[in-house]
Amino acid sequence: MLRFTQVQYRYPSTEALSLPDWEAAQGEHWLLLGASGSGKTTMLQLAAGLLTPTAGTVEVAEQRLASLSGRTLDRFRGQRIGIVFQTLHLVSALTVEQNLRLAQYLAGLPQDSERITEVLEPLGIAHKRKRRPHQLSQGEAQRVALARAVLNRPSVLLADEPTSALDDRSCEQVAKLLLSQARACGATLVIATHDARLGRYIPQQLQLEAAA
Ligand SMILES: Nc1ncnc2c1ncn2[C@@H]1O[C@H](COP(=O)(O)OP(=O)(O)OP(=O)(O)O)[C@@H](O)[C@H]1O
Ligand SMILES: [Mg+2]
Repeated sequence: MLRFTQVQYRYPSTEALSLPDWEAAQGEHWLLLGASGSGKTTMLQLAAGLLTPTAGTVEVAEQRLASLSGRTLDRFRGQRIGIVFQTLHLVSALTVEQNLRLAQYLAGLPQDSERITEVLEPLGIAHKRKRRPHQLSQGEAQRVALARAVLNRPSVLLADEPTSALDDRSCEQVAKLLLSQARACGATLVIATHDARLGRYIPQQLQLEAAA
């Protein structure tokens, strides 16, 4: 479902970051571990097609991301890949419901209110659908970001440091939500983190080496 082959990425005026060859099958759950600066966020952004590798290939569902561009890539990402960023990237001028409608629109999918209710309800936030992000608690906003990530039933669900700032109880809740949402759409789940507590929930792990 997700394959990295000989991937390197070089930010301007830095040395290239080499990433390990790696393959995650459909429905598998992975932790992406490594010290700060080892490339976890970079690897997620490459997996989402938000960055293009300087060398090597990244494939999602047998599709080489670098061969897509512009609107085709945006739609592919919108339909196949769900992302929960560390800073949640909700649109502050829009309500919860409008944020989710936007995600359907950007993926080129029809408006589907029933599906929106279907994702908000199990996350316990359906009654907050008319609120704007600043009218939500941090945990509620995080669940909205998770709802948006799974809305279009992605094949791959990516989360960047979803639990680092949380206490043990919230950490467990978020881990279980990510797992249950990934299972509900049969998605491959990849969580980038340096939070060792998550190892208890997700045994398959890819360790990135610290940059030289
Ligand atoms: N925009 C950028 N420009 C230049 N270098 C960058 C940029 N973003 C990241 N890097 C460098 O690339 C490397 C990998 O960064 P990345 O953010 O992927 O690490 P990370 O494992 O996610 O770290 P953290 O645990 O701190 O989030 C680091 O050496 C970092 O300094
Ligand atoms: Mg990071």
